[in-house]
Formats: sequence, structure tokens, C-alpha cells
Amino acid sequence: MTKKEQIYEGKAKKVFATEDPELLIVSYKDDATAFNGLKKGTIAGKGVINNKMSNMLMRRLAKAGIPTHYVEELSDRETLVKKVSIVPLEVIIRNIAAGSFSKRYGVKEGFVFERPTIEFSYKNDELGDPLINEYHALAIKLATEEEIETIKKYAFAINEQLKSFWAECGVTLVDFKLEFGRLSDGTIILADEISPDTCRFWDSKTGEKLDKDRFRRDLGGVEEAYEEVMKRILEHK
Ligand code: TMP
Ligand code: ASP
Repeated sequence: MTKKEQIYEGKAKKVFATEDPELLIVSYKDDATAFNGLKKGTIAGKGVINNKMSNMLMRRLAKAGIPTHYVEELSDRETLVKKVSIVPLEVIIRNIAAGSFSKRYGVKEGFVFERPTIEFSYKNDELGDPLINEYHALAIKLATEEEIETIKKYAFAINEQLKSFWAECGVTLVDFKLEFGRLSDGTIILADEISPDTCRFWDSKTGEKLDKDRFRRDLGGVEEAYEEVMKRILEHK
């Protein structure tokens, strides 16, 4: 598949057109940002890890019946994906309190929920991705009621799949963010990425943080954490 013009550059990825109008090539960068772009840096090797990890997880999800944008890994940093129009909602599933949840509700990080939770943020950088409820998302036509139902069903199913896979790797899946998109016929599929940029991973034994929180919170050992979670996946058979 030939790479054509660049059509978009985001904080962590570039997107290119291909000769097929239904397919795009995403290219993962080592650039990292946090706090809506306020904090900037580089995580050496992150692009390769995120590309391979996300692809591997999406292949597993596809086998479990969840439709994804993944088509084919083209190289260390590049993947062929289905073109979607992104639903402007960040879908966050949590199994354990951490991050903005802990801050907002004054709940200690590490408090384990009896049931996973879901929340949505309106994907809008100018507004700083504000939290939004389903009624508000419907009111401003970010998605239809049916689409939101589909997204919720997929998000919880993805959580079950990922939680058990990561447990087998000795990693606790604390929370994560998903993005969904619409194909040209309106079908909802999983898009974006699943990586240490978009998930909280804690070592099951030691509780050590193995994700982008090491960058967000200046904990050091950022590259090592990305390498460690990737190693856990490669060792899982
Ligand atoms: P939060 O606790 O900061 O709301 O983050 C919840 C999850 O979403 C966490 O796994 C990190 C991920 N996340 C993103 O992928 N992108 C973002 O812009 C933010 C704020 C969080
Ligand atoms: N990637 C997001 C940003 O730069 C935030 C984050 O992942 O914490 O705004």
C-alpha cells in the first residue's frame, strides 16, 4: 500500500492517505505530551512500542468479536488502518480509582471498584476535553443514542478481554481511554490506540507504575516502563 500525502498530525501520531480512499496509514512518533499539550517531551522508542502493542491487542480484540480499525502492520512504526470519522468522545473505563477520578472525588488511588465504571470526555482540545454525560453528548449531537449504546457495550467487553490478558502478563489494568469511529456505512469500530499512553498499567506484584504516568508525574524510568510492559506481552504465549 503506497503512502500518499500527510492528512493529519496529532500529538503522538501522523496520518497519511493511501491509494485506497477507505484506508489510511498511521505513523507513531516518540513525542509525548500531557495536560493538553502543556507538558512536552520525547520518550525514545515509544512509537515502536505503541504501534506494536496496540496492533497486537487489537488483533486479540478482533478475535474476540470486537471490530477494530486495524488492517496490517507495515513496519515498526507504521500501520494500515481503516479510515473512520472519529466519534468526538474519549471513552474511559476504570477498574481502580486513579488520576482524575481520585482527584475529583477525593478517593485514594488504588481503591478497587466492585464493578468497572465508564465516563466520557468531549474530545475538544480548545475546551480541554471536558467530562460530558450521555444526555449532553446526545444534545450536541456528538453521537446517536444507538451509537452510545454500541460504544458502551464494546468498551466493557474490551475491558474484560484486556483485564484478563494483562493479568496473565502480571499487569493490573487500572483504567484506559478508547476512541471509536464510524466507517463510511456508519458502522462503529474501535480506533486510535491501546498503549501505555492511553492505559494505566500497574505491576501486579509490586504496584509499580508501568505507563505514561511516569512521564506525566516526572517519576523517571519512562522508557524502561514502556519496554517492560512490551516485554511482558512478548513473553506471554
Ligand atoms: P485520567 O484519570 O487522567 O482521567 O485518565 C484516565 C485514563 O485515560 C488513563 O488511563 C490515561 C488515559 N488518558 C488518555 O489516554 N488521554 C488523555 O488525554 C487523558 C487525560 C487520559
Ligand atoms: N495526551 C494528552 C495531552 O497532551 C494528555 C495525557 O495523556 O495525559 O494533552
